[in-house]
Parts: sequence; C-alpha cells; structure tokens
Amino acid sequence: MKKKQVYVYKAFERFWHWMQAILIFFLAFSGFEIHGSYTFFGFRDAVKYHNIAAYMLIILIVFAIFWHFATGEWRQYVPSFRNIAAQLNYYIFGIFKNAPHPTRKTVLSKLNPLQKLTYFGLKILVIPVIVTSGLLYMLYRYPQKYGIESLNIESLEVIAIIHTIAAFLLVAFIIAHLYLITTGEKVTTNLKAMLTGYEELEEHHDEGEVTSSEKSE
Ligand code: HEM
Repeated sequence: MKKKQVYVYKAFERFWHWMQAILIFFLAFSGFEIHGSYTFFGFRDAVKYHNIAAYMLIILIVFAIFWHFATGEWRQYVPSFRNIAAQLNYYIFGIFKNAPHPTRKTVLSKLNPLQKLTYFGLKILVIPVIVTSGLLYMLYRYPQKYGIESLNIESLEVIAIIHTIAAFLLVAFIIAHLYLITTGEKVTTNLKAMLTGYEELEEHHDEGEVTSSEKSE
C-alpha cells in the first residue's frame, strides 16, 4: 500500500501534549516527595512547586477543553468497543510476531480503540479526580487551615488517599504510554509524529484529510 506524509497532530495539540507531559512528570516528582518517598527539593519547596505546576496544569486543561470542543477533536476520544479484542490481541501476541496493526490510523481516527478507552478514562475520571482532590487538599491546607466545613471534610486523610491513588494510576499510565509509543512502524515513529505533527500513513481518501502538500496552517 502506498504511503504518504500526513499532518496528524496540529500545533496546539502538540503543545498541549508536551506541556501536559512536563507538568505531570513534575507533579509526580514533587508529589511523591510530599508523600515522603524521597527528599529532593525539601518538603516546603516541593509543596510550593507542586502548587505552581498544579495551577499551570489547570490553566492548560481549560485551554485544552476549549480547543477540543472548538475543533471537534473531542470526537476522537469517544470510546468504541469495536476492534478492542483485536487491538489487545495485537499488543499481547501479534506485535511479537510482526503482525500488522489491526486498526488503521487516519487523521479523522488517529486513536486505536484501546487508546480511545484509556484516554477517555483519563479525561473523565483520573484527571478530574486528581485535580479535584488536589484542589480540596489546597483549600483544606491554606485558607481555612483546618477542615472544609461547608463540605463536611474534617480530615485530610481521605483526600490524600484519593489523590495518591490517582497519582499512582497516572504513573502507571505513563509507564504503559512510554512503552506503547515505541510500538509504531519504527521505534521512533510515534515520538517523531508528536514532535513534528507529521506521520507516514497508508494512502486513503478520508474526507477532510490534510496532507503535507495541502497543509496551509
Ligand atoms: C491540578 C492538579 C493537582 C493539584 C491541585 C494538586 C495539589 C496537591 C496538594 C495541595 C498536595 C498537598 C501538599 C501539601 O501537603 O501541602 C498534593 C500532594 C500530592 N500530589 Fe498533587 N496536585 C495535583 C496534581 C498531581 C499529579 C498530576 C500528581 C501525580 C501524578 C500528584 C501527586 C501528588 C502526590 C503523590 C501527593 C502527596 C500525597 C500525600 O501523600 O498526601 N498531584 N497535591
């Protein structure tokens, strides 16, 4: 099948992806210091930096939500159970036998069914939980000092446990994500695509597809 360079990831999408990656790495690193796993910045500074990065992440999330709805890209993340078994089968067996990817990547459908499900879960569950519990953690600590009476929250413990579970889930996601980005056509194919926006895809005739030569952005 003929291949051609296709513009898959737009400029904002790449900016959002890499900013989010840096901020989440930093939040995990400072967060686990706050948790007591090691000492690097010192507890006080770790909390200060964790808060700054958290505000930056919240601002980024607001822009990203706007971008996804304004461009209609949110549709990419609507999960579908079609081909999910084939995709799982590919990652567990096919990939080690050089089998072809079970789903085809196009500009209008750039996520495979497992990615759709995972990213959807992150967007509607893990990220909201980590942001909400993080904000409650801040509200508990700073303005009132003790408890959030209006919400009947008298102890930090539950919030801390929920925030930490979500942090572990995000770290687990990052580990899986780092492995899976190496499973493209070549080890660096997916990484290059998220850096440059372009990826070599099989030629097809999806409506609305923008190729490198047609790209005007
Ligand atoms: C907008 C998002 C976030 C907010 C508002 C937030 C806020 C906070 C706050 C206020 C604390 C407590 C600091 C203190 O003790 O004074 C904390 C702790 C922590 N954060 Fe975050 N955080 C966010 C995102 C993250 C992310 C993305 C991760 C990791 C992937 C993370 C991991 C942790 C961990 C592990 C702790 C220590 C929990 C404990 O042992 O009590 N946080 N966070």
